[in-house]
Amino acid sequence: MKNIAVIGSGTMGNGIAHTFAQFGYQVNLIDVNNEALERAISTIGKNLDRQVAKGTITEADKANTLKNISNFTQLSEGVANADLIVEAATENLELKLKIFKDLDTFAKPEAILASNTSSISITKIASVTNRGDKVIGMHFMNPVPVMKLVEVIRGYATSDETTAIVMDLSTKLSKAPVEVNDYPGFVANRILMPMINEAIYTLYESVAGVEEIDTVMKLGMAHPMGPLQLADFIGLDVCLAILNVLHDGFGNPKYAPCPLLVNMVTAGNKGVKSGEGFYNYAKGIKEAVVASKFSK
Ligand SMILES: NC(=O)c1ccc[n+]([C@@H]2O[C@H](COP(=O)([O-])OP(=O)(O)OC[C@H]3O[C@@H](n4cnc5c(N)ncnc54)[C@H](O)[C@@H]3O)[C@@H](O)[C@H]2O)c1
Repeated sequence: MKNIAVIGSGTMGNGIAHTFAQFGYQVNLIDVNNEALERAISTIGKNLDRQVAKGTITEADKANTLKNISNFTQLSEGVANADLIVEAATENLELKLKIFKDLDTFAKPEAILASNTSSISITKIASVTNRGDKVIGMHFMNPVPVMKLVEVIRGYATSDETTAIVMDLSTKLSKAPVEVNDYPGFVANRILMPMINEAIYTLYESVAGVEEIDTVMKLGMAHPMGPLQLADFIGLDVCLAILNVLHDGFGNPKYAPCPLLVNMVTAGNKGVKSGEGFYNYAKGIKEAVVASKFSK
């Protein structure tokens, strides 16, 4: 494993490229959008500067990391020599199926194809390729250079060999890989999203206000951030999409998204990225206040 291709240079893709490059791998970063690639390189540069300022890496490490990353807009060129491809493109089933069909055509036959999807079935993604044994989930957490966990998801056909290679590789990135099976939400989101949904139901049923709910979970359970604020950071549209995957996948009403969440997303209130969710971010994240709909 020397050559890695990362597909998608957004929030996750740039962090994944940064991490592999920092640990000495040659990374081809691929995005259909050239501006996204330029933004990614600038973000990686700023994040490396932060690591230099903290003393965790040197200026030379920064230069080497940047030297290890090459940009591509054509998937066929970017993946040709890759031993491992990590797909981190937009969370959309049709898009991912198309990308994996193309990967099966353009990647080396022995290459491992991994997806960073938060919620789409790895078994389904693998089913459009002729190498289901080499398709796996590699679910990094945001921000990738900082967060230790990699949820390694075995699809129905993923081989022991592929799983062992990806677990070992994650360790070489100084991450802590955890192996899980491919069922809706895997482990992380299967547990996190129902908690967020329950927090939204608690608000919807007027048991308590936004700040009260978040304070209980922060001070009572030692969570670094309350569940409503966390939902705003993840994106309320993303939370809704994952809850729908859980609801459809298990057919269990306990995963039904709270009607308040559905209304907020329909109205365009998606959290930090739209400027308002449970909190209003007009004055920046540090000075966010409870959104006017929920203020007393
Ligand atoms: N954001 C998170 O906190 C988080 C955490 C874990 C996993 N994920 C997963 O990571 C993946 C990426 O999420 P993100 O938040 O980085 O998204 P993002 O919107 O920030 O970036 C997605 C990038 O994919 C690019 N893209 C779209 N179609 C493409 C194609 N055909 N080929 C190449 N690039 C293409 C877009 O131009 C964009 O730059 C999703 O599957 C998401 O579920 C996200």
